[in-house]
Amino acid sequence: MTSMKNKLQNLKQEILERLEKAADILQLQELEEKYLGRKGELTLLLKEVGNLPAAERKETGKLANEIRTEIKQKLIEIKKKLDKNIHNDEFFDATLPGTKIASGHLHPLTQVQRDLEKIFSSMGFMILDGPELESDYYNFEALNIPKSHPARDMQDTFYINHKNKQGEYDMVMRTHTSNVQVRAMEKYGAPLRGVALGKIYRNEATDQRHEHTFYQIEGLMVDKDISIAHLMAVLREMFKRLFDQSANIRLRPGFFSFVEPGVEVEMSCLLCKGKGCPVCKRTGWVEMLGAGLVHPNVLRAGGIDSKIYSGFAFGTGIERLAMMKYGIDDIRLFHSGDLYFLKQF
Ligand code: DAH
Repeated sequence: MTSMKNKLQNLKQEILERLEKAADILQLQELEEKYLGRKGELTLLLKEVGNLPAAERKETGKLANEIRTEIKQKLIEIKKKLDKNIHNDEFFDATLPGTKIASGHLHPLTQVQRDLEKIFSSMGFMILDGPELESDYYNFEALNIPKSHPARDMQDTFYINHKNKQGEYDMVMRTHTSNVQVRAMEKYGAPLRGVALGKIYRNEATDQRHEHTFYQIEGLMVDKDISIAHLMAVLREMFKRLFDQSANIRLRPGFFSFVEPGVEVEMSCLLCKGKGCPVCKRTGWVEMLGAGLVHPNVLRAGGIDSKIYSGFAFGTGIERLAMMKYGIDDIRLFHSGDLYFLKQF
């Protein structure tokens, strides 16, 4: 065997071994370039064959061509194998529907909030808005809760580090949506019908029934000869439409500075139909709202003549309504961000 034939055989061996070990298409391409490229080792060797003496050239040339064909075939074969690895050779059906991207939905509190807005706007109530960072005046004073009044203790709040000219802290995170009452009276005068929904803040330790941040709805109606009967009719309608069933209502006296008389509104328990269960503490009734007839001082603060007009007001937590509607027993679930909880709505 000529040394050229030897060289060819050795190179062939080397190439085949290395092709076999290529881990991916990229490596395979590199090898192809290294051996078969324009300046590839095999290419150069094949060129040398042309310079051999004529006697040797024929036989060596034949071998060289065979080797090149063999290597090219091997390349194709390995390329196919590596391609298969990528596509796993599984049947791919492009007509199948794709994987759906999970889409979110409205938070249960937002759903209840929107329900309430629909119910009240259909009864001619405006949807009112008010600031969450509120002056001491609109949150307390204008609502007949003077600075030193013990009624302030009912709503411990977060004061903001801001003082008025007298050196008193005068800004709070609103403790209720009742802050919108006097703002609305000033803006729209009487007669007036509106609800304000939004976030409120309390300096409160949290437990199953208490949160430091929650949502409220406040209702206000001012007109001539407004009485408790109007309040009850509106609340009955709200309960009926929000809970999809009629509920009994009863009123008990309650103290809120901004109403006179003030009442606590209780609703027959929807979960046990008034028979008594843990949710209603076995009484058959659940306390749902604070309400009453707007105090003359509050009407006055809103620039409305209390001799001509009267009004009712009510307020409650939207969480409380949602808990009753869906039978939820822990208020903390609403703001927990727990998807297992949220996905149920
Ligand atoms: N603002 C009261 C609270 O947060 C709820 C309330 C009670 C609102 C009586 C009213 C009302 O409008 O008349 O506890």
